[in-house]
Amino acid sequence: PKKTRVHHLQQWKASGERWSMLTAYDYSTARLFDEAGIPVLLVGDSAANVVYGYDTTVPITTDELIPLVRGVVRGAPHALVVADLPFGSYEASPTLALASATRFMKEGGAQAVKLEGGERVSEHIATLTMSGIPVVAHIGFTPQSVNTLGGFRVQGRGDGAEQLIADAIAVQEAGAIAVVMEMVPADLAGQVTRKLTIPTVGIGAGAECDAQVLVWQDMAGYTSGKTARFVKQFTQLGDQLRTAAATYADEVRRGVFPGPEHSF
Ligand code: KIV
Ligand code: NA
Repeated sequence: PKKTRVHHLQQWKASGERWSMLTAYDYSTARLFDEAGIPVLLVGDSAANVVYGYDTTVPITTDELIPLVRGVVRGAPHALVVADLPFGSYEASPTLALASATRFMKEGGAQAVKLEGGERVSEHIATLTMSGIPVVAHIGFTPQSVNTLGGFRVQGRGDGAEQLIADAIAVQEAGAIAVVMEMVPADLAGQVTRKLTIPTVGIGAGAECDAQVLVWQDMAGYTSGKTARFVKQFTQLGDQLRTAAATYADEVRRGVFPGPEHSF
């Protein structure tokens, strides 16, 4: 495979080729996903949940995310690596957004950044774009705003549909290279996808988006507890790893491991 560039996303939109994005937070998994041909990897602020164990994405900082970006970039020579700008690192002004995004590019090695919001961050997106930083937008349910959105719920229902469409158009006009739509009714997501010239990346947004994204631990059955309706578990890695760890411990206890073939 060749290196994914921003213009490939545009080409796939034009040719109607569907593609996938996965999150990644370290070198080892990034390498596997790159080998699997996943063209775009996201170092999501969902690291707050799956790496650091926070309840929401609100607490995670730029300093906690940048080291993860470095590992992913080293592991994924072909994928386009997108880094999430965390809560508090960009909202206040386009200038703050530029300073934070610049750190992710220079210190992390990211090739693009993602931020949450539509119309309200269109100037931020324009400033980054003009400065040479490709931006992925994120509209619909935006987890960093969980405290104002009233919990984890579908967005764009009823009156919300018009705002969602306005947000999608605003981020495209500001120069976004793609837009993630999270927890949006499938029909509305399809409508937005047909309206836009940039790719839509759905998560809980139905089958008509140009691309799909999932948190890798969700996709691989590597999370504990209940997963969202929009998640499909393509394997049960959590069960496999727990069993492997228990078997290892058991073999050590019984003196089965290490055997002569593991010894010098
Ligand atoms: O942080 C994240 O993982 C994300 C994706 C789920 C879109 O923003
Ligand atoms: Na995110």
